Amino acid sequence: LDPGRVSDRWFQHPILAIETSCDETSAAVVVGTTIKSNVISSQIKLHEKWGGVVPEAAARAHVEAVLPIIQQALDEAGTPMPDIEAVAVTNRPGLVGALSVGVTAAKSIAYSRSIPLLGVHHLEGHLLSTFADDNEVPFSHLALIASGGHTELVIVRGLGEYEIVGHTIDDAAGEAFDKSARLFGLPYPGGRSMEEQADGGNPLRYPLPKGLAKDNLHFSFSGLKTAVLRLTQTEGEALSIRDAAASVQHAIVSVLTEKTVSAAETYRVKAITLVGGVAANVSLRKSLAAASSQIGLSFQAAPLKLCTDNAAMIGIAASHRLAKGERSAFDLETLPNADLP
Ligand code: KG4
Ligand code: ZN
Repeated sequence: LDPGRVSDRWFQHPILAIETSCDETSAAVVVGTTIKSNVISSQIKLHEKWGGVVPEAAARAHVEAVLPIIQQALDEAGTPMPDIEAVAVTNRPGLVGALSVGVTAAKSIAYSRSIPLLGVHHLEGHLLSTFADDNEVPFSHLALIASGGHTELVIVRGLGEYEIVGHTIDDAAGEAFDKSARLFGLPYPGGRSMEEQADGGNPLRYPLPKGLAKDNLHFSFSGLKTAVLRLTQTEGEALSIRDAAASVQHAIVSVLTEKTVSAAETYRVKAITLVGGVAANVSLRKSLAAASSQIGLSFQAAPLKLCTDNAAMIGIAASHRLAKGERSAFDLETLPNADLP
């Protein structure tokens, strides 16, 4: 693909996209990279009491929500179902029961309307969320995907051309936020409440480990989790939640920033991008923006509304694949684990 002319080649017709891989039921209508609607129904309330996503409960909630959410996406886009020309759906990776709900809905619509179906890799959706609304990011660029399930450094050489050069060997960055928040008694999901608490706290009050050495591009957050547990035990009532939250955020943000910069220098990319749920973190956005500019690279974080799981990013990823003629068969499977793309 000629990177300069990418947008010309993207699909010109309305695509309905569906995302149900974890705890958000989402449907969107996109035309190329233009988002006509992007409706997200979060299951936060449902999983709150367990402090995490319960797969069986997630699947049942998707069953209830998926058709009303699709209808709402069509209504908000002003695109009636007969105008939809393709259906895209996340089919990998994710919770299999949850994925199956979206995939079955997508197949039924594509089958009954005789329009193309396309299964999309969830992480390709996150990776291309920075391309929304005709935004262009130069190739090759380095993407940091940081979410509740993933922490990956990906070289994006072109649309569909990805190489993972770093990943977590245990917990994901979002999980590190969520588990620490839980130990501090903060509400689920932990990332957002941790960021709120960290505001005004002293990030250097409690020194915490950063995991693997700086020149190693892989991440490890299990040591941080253990250190946070020990901190809550030794400090007890004396623990300042504000300072502790600021310290945890500082530890996670600095390790993510250091390794991203190190990978960008090693692979000589033209730009750095930040995507995934944790990309909503303002401190991380600022830190990576400053670090990128220091090494002379442009920086692009996903728009806030496209950080957490959503169907618009799945539609954007689908448009370039559909434009290239890719289609999925009606026996499209759901996969709990799958390599990019
Ligand atoms: O991408 P996402 O919605 O779902 C997955 O694919 O995992 O990411 C959710 C993760 C959760 O771990 C959540 O705590 C984290 O993103 N998160 C944040 C913030 N908002 C969400 N982490 C840090 N700061 C935030 N503001
Ligand atoms: Zn995600």
